[in-house]
Amino acid sequence: MRKEPIIALDFASQDEVMSFLHQFNEPLFVKVGMELFYQTGPELLKSIKALGHDIFLDLKLHDIPNTVGKAMEGLAKLDVDLVNVHAAGGQDMMKRAIEGLHKHNPQIKIIAVTQLTSTTEEQLHDEQNIQTSMEEAVLNYAVLAQKAGLHGVVCSPLEAKIIQEQCGKSFLKVTPGIRPKNSATHDQKRITTPEDAQKLGSTHIVVGRPITQSDNPVESYHQIKESWLKNG
Ligand code: C5P
Repeated sequence: MRKEPIIALDFASQDEVMSFLHQFNEPLFVKVGMELFYQTGPELLKSIKALGHDIFLDLKLHDIPNTVGKAMEGLAKLDVDLVNVHAAGGQDMMKRAIEGLHKHNPQIKIIAVTQLTSTTEEQLHDEQNIQTSMEEAVLNYAVLAQKAGLHGVVCSPLEAKIIQEQCGKSFLKVTPGIRPKNSATHDQKRITTPEDAQKLGSTHIVVGRPITQSDNPVESYHQIKESWLKNG
């Protein structure tokens, strides 16, 4: 999988996505999330692929094992490069997900969401009734994902270090919450710079607004890419 920063295409329409992408003259790695996919469907993915870009389809599947397995068989036909599920769906669900996916395309990587970064430790205890620390809960799901045969997890860069210690360097740690020095944090709470994410063990970073809302997206992308890859 490409090591370049994964650009989160959080736009409202296919037109906006395409005019953003047409500014770039190089292959990118982009993330399409559920808001966009539910509106545009697979057509958007075909247009992005036609430009030569890699796609992380971030739909976070979570259902009974049979349903997720069958849904993954469908996603495997979309020519994407990376997909994901919620680890909370359990080991059987994750196993069926990877089986379904690889039936049609064994090249696609699959990772698990551990705990959403919007979940607080208080919610973990009071709503999910998980009485461990957030770190332990995240690590538990990362280990479960690895046992199920998944390629990695989505996590905070601040959790990447302990996951690396437990699950190894090659287990993917795809981390949002990235902000270059002196840039606006928006609604992200626990942020790190691209350099620090690299040091903490992230294998891939996801960056949205610092690039998509920049006055010069191409320049911002290259600055982030340089600082991310310089120690990699
Ligand atoms: O604009 P920004 O860089 O904050 O975008 C981060 C992207 O990563 C968004 O698409 C957001 O939905 C996604 N994401 C996140 N935190 C997670 C999982 C996904 O910020 N835990």
